[in-house]
Amino acid sequence: METPYQNHIDKADFDHVYEPAEDSFLLIDALEKDLGYLKLKNPTFCLEVGSGSGVVITAFGIAFPNTFCFSTDINFKACIMSRSTAIRNKVLLDAVNMDLVTSFVDEKFDVVIFNPPYVVTETNECGGCGIAASWAGGVKGREITDRLLHMIPKILTKNGTFYLLLIKENIPLEVVHIMSQYGYKSETVITRKVRNEQQMVLKFCK
Ligand SMILES: C[S@@+](CC[C@H](N)C(=O)[O-])C[C@H]1O[C@@H](n2cnc3c(N)ncnc32)[C@H](O)[C@@H]1O
Repeated sequence: METPYQNHIDKADFDHVYEPAEDSFLLIDALEKDLGYLKLKNPTFCLEVGSGSGVVITAFGIAFPNTFCFSTDINFKACIMSRSTAIRNKVLLDAVNMDLVTSFVDEKFDVVIFNPPYVVTETNECGGCGIAASWAGGVKGREITDRLLHMIPKILTKNGTFYLLLIKENIPLEVVHIMSQYGYKSETVITRKVRNEQQMVLKFCK
């Protein structure tokens, strides 16, 4: 998968929006590793939750030019940046400023992607809509992720696939268990140690 151009972004804007880092690129690498599977699935609608700069959903849009791409972010400035990254790379993207996927009522997506705020913090540190929302994950680093897990069955098509980035401290086995209660199988697509962080991308489908 191609890394999208980001040379349109002013470095200072990353004071307000998550700057793509190893986790962003691990997610892109996971999608690349799964390219054969995804091509067979021929997705019509793809959604990235918490798209930040838009680098991940844009990489997906470049690889799948016939897929309608959507993104959400709680941070308004991230939505603007996601859109500009998509435009810079000639990808059509609807970037919506919302909390997770709460305003999607009847929408169903074939692929959902999430690189959540996963750092373990105090509960009162997470849940904002500025730059701290990029990383502050509350208890187990999972407070935002867990809210999305329970919404996945509503927004994912029957044959859809959900990709989720986690670190070891998020206790991935508990996430696997939660998703299994909704009938999802899980698989680890890729793992990488980044400094003291063990990052991984899990994939869920029925
Ligand atoms: C770790 S950053 C990932 C950004 C981008 N996807 C990437 O991989 O570079 C997490 C993103 O989730 C967004 N976010 C946090 N809480 C959210 C929520 N409740 N609803 C939507 N987006 C949220 C943050 O604003 C941030 O852009």
